[in-house]
Amino acid sequence: MVDKKFHVKIGVIGAGHLGRHHIKHLSSHSSVNFVGFFDINEKTSKKISEEFSVKSFKNVEELINCSDGLHIVTPTPLHYGIAIECLKKNKDIFIEKPIASTIKEAEEIVNLSKKNKNIVQIGHIERFNPTINQLKTIIKNPHFIEIERLAPFQSRGAEVPVVLDLMVHDIDLVLSMVDSNIKQIQASGAKMMGTKVDVAHARIEFSSGVVANLKSSRIAQNYVRKIRTYEKAREFVHKQNLKSNREWIKFTKSGKPNRCIYFRY
Ligand SMILES: NC(=O)c1ccc[n+]([C@@H]2O[C@H](COP(=O)([O-])OP(=O)(O)OC[C@H]3O[C@@H](n4cnc5c(N)ncnc54)[C@H](O)[C@@H]3O)[C@@H](O)[C@H]2O)c1
Repeated sequence: MVDKKFHVKIGVIGAGHLGRHHIKHLSSHSSVNFVGFFDINEKTSKKISEEFSVKSFKNVEELINCSDGLHIVTPTPLHYGIAIECLKKNKDIFIEKPIASTIKEAEEIVNLSKKNKNIVQIGHIERFNPTINQLKTIIKNPHFIEIERLAPFQSRGAEVPVVLDLMVHDIDLVLSMVDSNIKQIQASGAKMMGTKVDVAHARIEFSSGVVANLKSSRIAQNYVRKIRTYEKAREFVHKQNLKSNREWIKFTKSGKPNRCIYFRY
């Protein structure tokens, strides 16, 4: 049996929809000494603590003091305050995406982490999506990219605009696909359910001439995840149907399909 007392001590702050997964995986990871978690909701804390047989801390300070690194998985408006509290105590942090609610907050987190020489990592999980990685091995030189990310409404995540909730994944992907500076951005959106934008379209033009059109909505009828990239004499369509958990990439040449690849994960 491995003695975990020499392993890195990790704690999780926030045990909701996504925090539960962090706790599940960290608490069973062979290289991690999982110290426990803190959630402000007592009912959630009790449930998660029992489900994974892990320690639920009574206050966040105690958890921070006991950990080398922390995963921050609270609603986005709280990321900044908790991240600064952790960094001030010289802890490394993993923050779920988006890093913070505003650019100013994000910059303060990055600046303090640099000053204190702490690691800050953001949960841009789409970078590890097997289909996206497969797609990146196929795409050579796209000159036009279209991405749609649509979802039915749920109140979870609606405390920030859909750009920070959903489109942030696609902005990150586009920046990883295009090796050029951004020349200009045009964007528009609409608030439908509350005070934050729920549907947004953005057109990002790069100095190299590449254009990316992004569409995000959290008030759609169905889940849609779609990436279409255009390059000379080729069109690749990537579509993720969340319900059947099936993915496909279709190649077309001169408008006719000439190859299909199906992915399942
Ligand atoms: N990487 C991804 O693909 C992805 C997917 C979903 C959510 N997220 C991000 O994860 C974060 C959490 O989202 P979620 O869907 O799990 O939300 P959620 O509402 O399900 O969970 C948030 C949890 O934080 C707890 N909480 C609230 N205030 C707290 C505090 N002060 N201290 C400790 N706990 C507190 C709540 O009780 C709740 O259990 C958000 O920033 C969201 O953008 C990322």
